[in-house]
Amino acid sequence: MRLRNIPEAKGIVAESRHVIRLQEVNGRSIPDFLHTDMPVEMEIGMGKGAFVIGMAQSHPDRFFIGVERYESVLMRAVQKMDTLEKAEREGTEPAGTFPRNLKFLCEDAASLPEWFPEGSVGKLYLNFSDPWPKARHEKRRLTSGFFLSIYERFLKPGGELVFKTDNEALFAFSVETMRSAEHWTLKTVTNDLHRTLAPGEENIMTEYERKFSNLGSKICRMTAVYNGRDDSSAIC
Ligand SMILES: C[S@@+](CC[C@H](N)C(=O)[O-])C[C@H]1O[C@@H](n2cnc3c(N)ncnc32)[C@H](O)[C@@H]1O
Repeated sequence: MRLRNIPEAKGIVAESRHVIRLQEVNGRSIPDFLHTDMPVEMEIGMGKGAFVIGMAQSHPDRFFIGVERYESVLMRAVQKMDTLEKAEREGTEPAGTFPRNLKFLCEDAASLPEWFPEGSVGKLYLNFSDPWPKARHEKRRLTSGFFLSIYERFLKPGGELVFKTDNEALFAFSVETMRSAEHWTLKTVTNDLHRTLAPGEENIMTEYERKFSNLGSKICRMTAVYNGRDDSSAIC
């Protein structure tokens, strides 16, 4: 993603009530700090937030965390949440428009195990992740073996990972990585999601998904289940 630096973004994100401030978490885990009994779901690389905001509006019984590492991007999602909150307060939109079951986190995905303990996240969404096409950057892809081992540290056994992209090379790499990953089971693969959605099946579109499908690109989706680790065979 080409990034335009927005000087005021740092301050806007730091002061927003929609963003988790790690200094307030103060040594606790984030699920502890949030004090929620709802199942926690997470989108990593949420960009401007259309997907995670839409999911939180559609599922008020789940708690969503949107993770984005750049303030200049996250600022746009913060502004969307401000607009929804204002519209609900002023009665121009109905109650429930502003999702109270959603917080953002401005962090790199690699640091998430510091804040989310084992088994604390039930479902993980990766949407239109940066492709990092050069072989030497493979580890940076959010569907690489390196990142799967990061997710294993906080995803619940039996929890699901859902990945959407328009990038065929990244998709082929991701399916292959998942197929050979020791603790994961690949569940579904489609190379044309919008044509293969079952009637009534939910598909909230991301900003990139809307843009690329309007340009005629097919959207690929893979789902996989994290099986957990059987550490009984570990050598002590
Ligand atoms: C191509 S954009 C897609 C945005 C959005 N998911 C969508 O589909 O419209 C990928 C986003 O992932 C973020 N990102 C990439 N690597 C990340 C990482 N390691 N941790 C957190 N965010 C990351 C980027 O900053 C960027 O905003």
